[in-house]
Amino acid sequence: MDKVRIAIVGCGGMARSHAGRFDMILDQVEVRAVVDVLEERAQAVADLLPGEPIVATDYHDVLDEIDAALLVLPHHLHHSATLDCLAAGKHVLVEKPMANSEQECLDMIRAAREADRVLMVAYCMRFHPLVVKMKELIDDRTYGDVFQLSMWTEQLTQYPPDHWGSSAATLGGGQLFSHGCHYIDLLLWMLGRPVCGTHFGTNTGTPWMEREGTSNVTIEFEGGVLGYHMGTWGARGSRLKYSFHAHCTGGMIEAAISEGKLIVHHRQEAHEPGRPPVQAVDTLMEVQQAKPTEVEMAHFIECIRTGRKPLTDAVGSLEGLQVIWKLYEAEENGQLADLRGLGLGTFAG
Ligand SMILES: NC(=O)c1ccc[n+]([C@@H]2O[C@H](COP(=O)([O-])OP(=O)(O)OC[C@H]3O[C@@H](n4cnc5c(N)ncnc54)[C@H](O)[C@@H]3O)[C@@H](O)[C@H]2O)c1
Repeated sequence: MDKVRIAIVGCGGMARSHAGRFDMILDQVEVRAVVDVLEERAQAVADLLPGEPIVATDYHDVLDEIDAALLVLPHHLHHSATLDCLAAGKHVLVEKPMANSEQECLDMIRAAREADRVLMVAYCMRFHPLVVKMKELIDDRTYGDVFQLSMWTEQLTQYPPDHWGSSAATLGGGQLFSHGCHYIDLLLWMLGRPVCGTHFGTNTGTPWMEREGTSNVTIEFEGGVLGYHMGTWGARGSRLKYSFHAHCTGGMIEAAISEGKLIVHHRQEAHEPGRPPVQAVDTLMEVQQAKPTEVEMAHFIECIRTGRKPLTDAVGSLEGLQVIWKLYEAEENGQLADLRGLGLGTFAG
């Protein structure tokens, strides 16, 4: 079968990360073009890839050469670039978060339907083997019923003042919107229907951020299950780095993403003052994997070839962002966010 010809549009940090993993899927994809308004950035990504892709500074110039576009652009450009590519009949894999407003997301969903093209959002953590296995163990109730899922992401991300990531308008919000969207998506995917929630954000510790650089989200789900996400771009040190803990009635499943391990802590005796807790710890899986973008790209290609709906489709992405926007709104109003009626699979449009 012919390879799907793609263009990588936007050749900054994340595009270099994508390009570094393309060698695993070159039997399915040909990177025909790389595009950045700064030609030297496009050239630097081209240099990571085989086959001497076209280097361009305007994606409109390469649309005739491709079947699909991977958009790795600043967030305020996701909407216009997606619409341009769909109007030209191209499939689109757009980096997260999908776009900076609900109306922009709705425009993109409608345009993809009208063009009958695949529109997928790059939530790569959904394809991470440790995350996939953790969800399977929760769904199968292997260690009983989950009652608390906590996700920590602690990193140091500092953009220069004139970078689009430092401005709330171009970033679309703060750390929660930009990065936490991955984990709100995972919480919804793993825990189901949200009921209510809170967000507390601060830019204390990350003064380079216009909006929050550190974010704490707590969500109550139907059945009383709690989800928690703490993400910071201000970590000058970290022990947890990227770590997810699912407390279940029969044990705690730990996805230590940065260590590449899925661990279960179980058979813990009830706490007795003065006695250290005794428990069994078993490693279930070890996978050294940072961002499985090649699995994500292979899924995108499969959806193009088969017409299958992407796991991380545009509608589900909008549904996750709706939760974030509600959390932001409630925070501004000093209220608890009413999240009833939101979550994956609720979009009626
Ligand atoms: N999935 C992940 O884990 C992950 C991690 C980091 C970033 N991202 C996402 O990737 C996207 C890009 O982020 P980044 O960190 O690479 O940003 P970046 O600033 O490093 O790169 C963006 C690039 O786009 C270029 N650009 C700007 N306007 C353009 C235009 N009109 N046409 C072509 N190129 C243009 C810039 O020159 C720059 O090189 C964002 O959506 C971000 O959220 C995802």
